[in-house]
Amino acid sequence: MAIFEPTKENISKAAEHIQNGNLVSFATETVYGLGANALDPTACEKIFIAKERPHYDPLIVHVADVSMVSLVAAKFPEKAQQAAEAFWPGSLTMVLPKKDVISDSITANMPTVAVRVPDHPVAKALLEASERPVAAPSANPFGYLSPTTALHVEEQLGEKIPMILDGGECDCGVESTIVDFTVEPPQLLRFGGISKEQLEEVLGSIDLGKPVLERPLAPGQLASHYSPNTRLEIISPDDVPLIEAGQKVGLLTSGKDASFKVDMIESVSVDNDLEEAAHNLFSALHRLDDAKLDLIYAHSFPEEGIGRAIMDRLRKAAIKLK
Ligand code: TXA
Ligand code: MG
Repeated sequence: MAIFEPTKENISKAAEHIQNGNLVSFATETVYGLGANALDPTACEKIFIAKERPHYDPLIVHVADVSMVSLVAAKFPEKAQQAAEAFWPGSLTMVLPKKDVISDSITANMPTVAVRVPDHPVAKALLEASERPVAAPSANPFGYLSPTTALHVEEQLGEKIPMILDGGECDCGVESTIVDFTVEPPQLLRFGGISKEQLEEVLGSIDLGKPVLERPLAPGQLASHYSPNTRLEIISPDDVPLIEAGQKVGLLTSGKDASFKVDMIESVSVDNDLEEAAHNLFSALHRLDDAKLDLIYAHSFPEEGIGRAIMDRLRKAAIKLK
């Protein structure tokens, strides 16, 4: 078992692991991260190996506070500073011009680096004790559901990492929003914990950019992500799930209506609250995926606020390449 309570002693031990070039998984407010010293390319390589992550997928670099941005980024444009003021610490990742100390393997050979100040006491304590920027993708095997509890990490990657710092269930439950500040207007590359509406209140209008993983690096490569092993299909909340004879079916939904005749129902928010739905999304998908069903139906969510991040994850989860 690699799960550790975030005591002072364990935070120090975890920081030593980071300083010695080892991996540590830790809680953030979005999802659990799999961290390594961002200034040590050999340590970061261990992330790619543990996750079986392809090198064309760059890593997010986490820092303890805004003053550490200058360690990794060559420029911090005015709009990015405004966003930092409004949303950090928090679930916003900024793409900025990179400094040479950040190796090309972290950024997939791009001249930019993705930076975030997380809003979780465990992440903050680890970053402060490590005294280094920490590169950390979500702590799941590449392409699989993201982890929102320490147990998710233990089950997926526990044998490959010395320590998982338990910070409870992640509050937000979906990954950070990624915004590219190297262009004007800034471009939103991934929907996440901070909504487009919230960003636009502070920054004015922003464009929807093409995320790195959706650029056609090789045909058919990467539409699939956040994916359970079980087939998943999105249906409208007005649709009754269609079940073939003998099929074992689960349903991801929200609201109180439990009258659907399926083998398993996960309601991510009985009150139809989108923030609560995001918080519970991956845990519910993990449980459905563990239940050995033939098919998971997911009711769609309104595409507003954090609902856009939920729908982004569900759409990618619904695409199976295998
Ligand atoms: O909430 C989060 O962001 C979590 C926690 C651990 O902080 N991390 C996370 O990392 O979601 P990951 O690896 O699952 O997603 C990182 C994504 C990449 O897939 C890529 O799309 C984008 O960040 N990214 C990283 N560097 C980039 C860059 N220089 N330019 C554009 N996109 C970048
Ligand atoms: Mg991920």
